[in-house]
Amino acid sequence: MIIAIDGPAGSGKSTIARRLAERLRLTYLDSGALYRALTYMCMRDGVDLGDVPAVVKFLEALDIDLQYAAGRQRVLANGRDITAEIRDPAVTRQVYYVAKEPAVRKEMVAHQRAFGKRGDLVAEGRDMGTVVFPNADFKFYLDAGADVRAQRRHRELREKGMEVPLEQLRKEIEQRDRTDMERKVAPLKRAEDATVVDTSDMTIDEVVEHVMERIEKGRK
Ligand code: C5P
Repeated sequence: MIIAIDGPAGSGKSTIARRLAERLRLTYLDSGALYRALTYMCMRDGVDLGDVPAVVKFLEALDIDLQYAAGRQRVLANGRDITAEIRDPAVTRQVYYVAKEPAVRKEMVAHQRAFGKRGDLVAEGRDMGTVVFPNADFKFYLDAGADVRAQRRHRELREKGMEVPLEQLRKEIEQRDRTDMERKVAPLKRAEDATVVDTSDMTIDEVVEHVMERIEKGRK
């Protein structure tokens, strides 16, 4: 079984996908973490994010692994734990450079499909239902207003000890929506057969229940 969950930043995708994976005992694929890992490692090793051939070559030699234990995700690149580093706002702002490149996405899609071959999966990102797993058994598109999403990010960052002004986060979220929705390859959009869930006024538990109900109904 493959469950595809797409949506913009802060729509609740990661939390919901993780909870579903735990409840249904499926593997969780955080595709955004792969794009973030590549971006961070390029920045760290001085690879120019604008130099596409260099980025692709770097990606080909990069071993990115996502591991889960006791409800926690670890992101490893060439064996190095970069779980915290990839969430840095400086990385978030730069992911766009690699995410818009067809050659980069081609490699990433192959990597993501390899996860699907390992077994049942909850895959989360921007193009899971449209490009990577068009035949997914269930597809959801999570959405929420930009203000709500900025507040969620603000809380998340604060919990990690990072204080970023709310207004700045809202602007960054709107900017990221634009670049994710307007890029030519695999833009963020709802798959025609995806169920839309507006999470603006819902708690995490409510979203999980709603999505679970859909899945249970669909399995009968
Ligand atoms: O989901 P997350 O916020 O970690 O994703 C970071 C960025 O990675 C997104 O803004 C998007 O540009 C890119 N991404 C993508 N395709 C995916 C997942 C993430 O282009 N499937």
